Amino acid sequence: MQLFDTRFAPSLHQILDDLDRQGFSIMDDVYTADYMQAVSTECLSLLDAFRAAGIQNGVVSQIRSDHILWIDDAQPIAQQHIQALNELGQSINRAFYTGIKDVEAHFACYNAGEFYALHRDNPQGKNGRIMSTVYYLHTQWQQDWGGQLRLQDRHGKWHTIEPHPNRLAIFQSDLLHEVKEAHQQRLSITAWLRSDQQLI
Ligand code: OGA
Ligand code: MN
Repeated sequence: MQLFDTRFAPSLHQILDDLDRQGFSIMDDVYTADYMQAVSTECLSLLDAFRAAGIQNGVVSQIRSDHILWIDDAQPIAQQHIQALNELGQSINRAFYTGIKDVEAHFACYNAGEFYALHRDNPQGKNGRIMSTVYYLHTQWQQDWGGQLRLQDRHGKWHTIEPHPNRLAIFQSDLLHEVKEAHQQRLSITAWLRSDQQLI
């Protein structure tokens, strides 16, 4: 069974052009249905280990109410996605001299009622995150289930991106964005293409 068949290569020109023009790009049907199913199953099997993303060192933040699990070697299926993102990062480096060296990633689960308010992933360029990516891995999503990604492009224009299954959104980490409240369980992998190995 072929689990993994990255579609980045054929659409690479489009991705680089989108990033250049507007600072973000959306790709649909990124992987095979088998891969999406496998990564979804891996994510669901780990849900008990997810932790509230808004609580760090005992400090509670109201900005987000989702739950996350950082990805490491113990998640071999998700690692294949991270490997594909590493390769995408090298292509972005060749086009824009961005200095991407590493990928950090976590699963995210938004249960009904959960959201992530307006934020930037790299405010003031301080933390090494160059590009943010989100891969949506719930197996179905309907328009009235909320959970949209709202993103301001590099010209200040707002876009609403539906979290369609098997879709990848990639955007500059300094852009303002939010996740609207989800009405159903919304599953994803958020990954950052970084300029260094250090985790924040
Ligand atoms: C994030 C984020 C967007 C999304 O995890 O920082 O903004 O659509 N995610 O899940
Ligand atoms: Mn974000």
